[in-house]
Parts: sequence; C-alpha cells; structure tokens
Amino acid sequence: MRVISVVGARPQFVKLAPIDRAIRAAGHEHVIIHTGQHYSPELSDALWADLGIPQADLNLGVGSGSHAEQTAAMLTGLERAFEAEPSDWVLVYGDTNSTLAAALAAAKIHRPVAHLEAGLRSGNRRMPEEHNRVVTDHLADLLLAPTDTAMGHLAHEGLASRAVNVGDVMVDVCLAVHELTEAAPPEMPAAWNADDPPVLATIHRPDNTDDPARLGMLIDRIAAMPFEVMLVAHPRLVAKAQEAGIALDRPGILPIPSLTYSQMVHATAHAPGVVTDSGGLQKEAFILRTPAITARTETEWPETLVDGWNVIDPDLLVDARAQFEAARPASRSYPFGRGDAAARAVEALIAGL
Ligand code: UD1
Repeated sequence: MRVISVVGARPQFVKLAPIDRAIRAAGHEHVIIHTGQHYSPELSDALWADLGIPQADLNLGVGSGSHAEQTAAMLTGLERAFEAEPSDWVLVYGDTNSTLAAALAAAKIHRPVAHLEAGLRSGNRRMPEEHNRVVTDHLADLLLAPTDTAMGHLAHEGLASRAVNVGDVMVDVCLAVHELTEAAPPEMPAAWNADDPPVLATIHRPDNTDDPARLGMLIDRIAAMPFEVMLVAHPRLVAKAQEAGIALDRPGILPIPSLTYSQMVHATAHAPGVVTDSGGLQKEAFILRTPAITARTETEWPETLVDGWNVIDPDLLVDARAQFEAARPASRSYPFGRGDAAARAVEALIAGL
C-alpha cells in the first residue's frame, strides 16, 4: 500500500507522527507532502524534529494568505503533486485549509481519499474549520472517526457506510510523549517554574483574536486570574494584539513564543489548569487529567466536559480557582481510545483498498 499524507499546520504534524510510524511499521510506503501553510520554524521544523517525523518528500511552500488565496495555491500545487505520485490513499488530517485543499484536489482526479479525525462538528458556521470538516467528510471515500460522537454525526449526514471509529491518534502521541517526558523532563522556558507551575494558556482562533475589544477583554481576564499564566502566543495572536495595541506582557501573564510538543505535553500535565480555544489542547488536558477552561461557545470534543474536566466559558467568567482545584473522580472512561488509533487507522486503510 502506498499512502500520501498531506499536512500543513501544527496540529496536523502532531497527528502525522504516530501515523507515519504505524504505516512504516506495517511495511507500507508513506509519502509526506507539506503544503507550507505553517512555515515559521517554531510552528513547523522544530515540531517535526521533536516528534521524530522524517523530512517531507515535498513542501509546496504556499505560506499565508486569505482563505481563497491560500486554498487556491494549495489546490494547484497538490493536483500537480498527485499527478506525479501514484497512491492507494491520499490521507488528510483534521480541519485546516490544507485538509480541504488536499481532499478536493485528490477527489477531482479520482484518487481515493481518507479523512483522519472525520465526523467532528462544532455546529459553529463562523469557524473556517467547520466548513473544512463538513466538505472534506463528504468528499472522502473513507472516514476515520475518533469517537462515537463523531460516528453519530457522520451517520446523521448519511455517511455511516464509509465511516469507521478507529479512536483518536492524539491519544497515541500524547501518551507516548508523556511517558518520555515523565522519565526525562524536557528543558522548559524561563517562564515555567517547576516548583509552582503556571496555568497554561493559548488563544489563537480568529473569533477571539480578530476583534480588538474581545481580545482585550480575554487578555484582561487571563491576567486577572489568581494564578501566574504562561501564554503560548501563536503568531496570529501576537500580530493581532500588536495591531490593537494590547500588551500581552503584563503582570500575571508570561508570554512565550511557542513550545515543542514535548514541552507542551509536560506543561499540560503539570499545570494547575489550562485556558484555551484550541481543540487539541482541550483534549490533551483531559487525557492528562488537567482541568481546562475553553474560551469558546462550543466544543467539538463534548466528551471532555464529563465531571467538569473541561468547561465552556467564552468570556472567561468562571472562577478559575474553583475550576482548577475542584476534586474530581480519578477513574474515567476512554472516549478517545486507549492509544492504538494509528495502528487501527492503518488496518482500516488496508481493509478499504
Ligand atoms: C490554522 C488553522 C487552524 C489551526 C491552526 C493551528 C485554518 C483555516 N486554520 O490557523 O484550524 O487550529 O492553524 O495553529 O487552516 N503565521 C505565521 N507563521 C506561520 C503560519 C502563520 O506567522 O508559520 C501567521 C500569519 O500572520 C498568518 C496567520 O498566522 O496570516 C494565520 O495563519 P493561518 O495558517 O492562515 O491560520 P492559523 O491561524 O495558523
């Protein structure tokens, strides 16, 4: 079997790592195409090195732009790349513009497409990711869903016959990296105090960053939390804060540019709590048993809300101390699988040939 994986943005690199290992371990061929959506060394190269992903076979270097510009450049580059590379499957990941472009380019030239992390729905049509997910699921021939909830969404849209629940590959990578970082903690930035760890925060969604009044309100409320907060600042947040004249570096907030995945897992596991609008980080917090506050109006991962591990709080109004220090039952179900999702995804690809 020959699989072409197309990735472009940070969360996709994380999912690619266990899939690459599983495809090669099963003795199959794996071609990796990077669209170049994320290109800053701290969002791309550093992460690939940390996750042990081999160098991409091709990088299209599309870079940033409006949705149309970025997606169009990817479509043109990917069609050319697919014409030159035979494949049994084009595998696309998650919900970014790279996902949509790869699924569309491949489907139009009759190349079988598999979608990893299929079936997620936020119901929020303002999110570019929601359109990317819905369209990709309807284009793909094989839907690799991470949860029963995702399977339910696919069935509701008439896609059940193409769908299989393989579990969530983020559990594979998160647990594997957690084991390594517990044995040998990674070097952490100066903002991280191992004796009294700060809360870990990330804010990067356009709905939170692009309106200056909303962004200012969120940053004020993060600074007012009764904890030191280490804010991992995505380039979009840094750019939008600067444009709006909002200081990220202020009492209560320790802004840092980025973390490797190992550092992120270590921080998530040891922080008193997480404040985020990232889908991935909400779930990593849940997997690592750290309470979270999600700065959004909904979540694609409702499983994380069980026992209050995660709380939806778009305006950051909940009492952070109460959320982070509440006693919660230690035992819990495994809605995202037990860490064998990549191997199950490869089995599903083989079965679907
Ligand atoms: C993208 C995904 C989002 C995902 C996020 C993870 C889409 C629509 N959005 O959002 O789902 O959660 O990645 O990080 O695909 N920039 C840099 N360096 C880079 C890349 C971007 O400085 O390497 C800056 C540029 O100013 C750019 C902005 O960040 O315009 C936004 O980048 P873009 O890739 O369009 O979207 P993200 O916000 O990163």
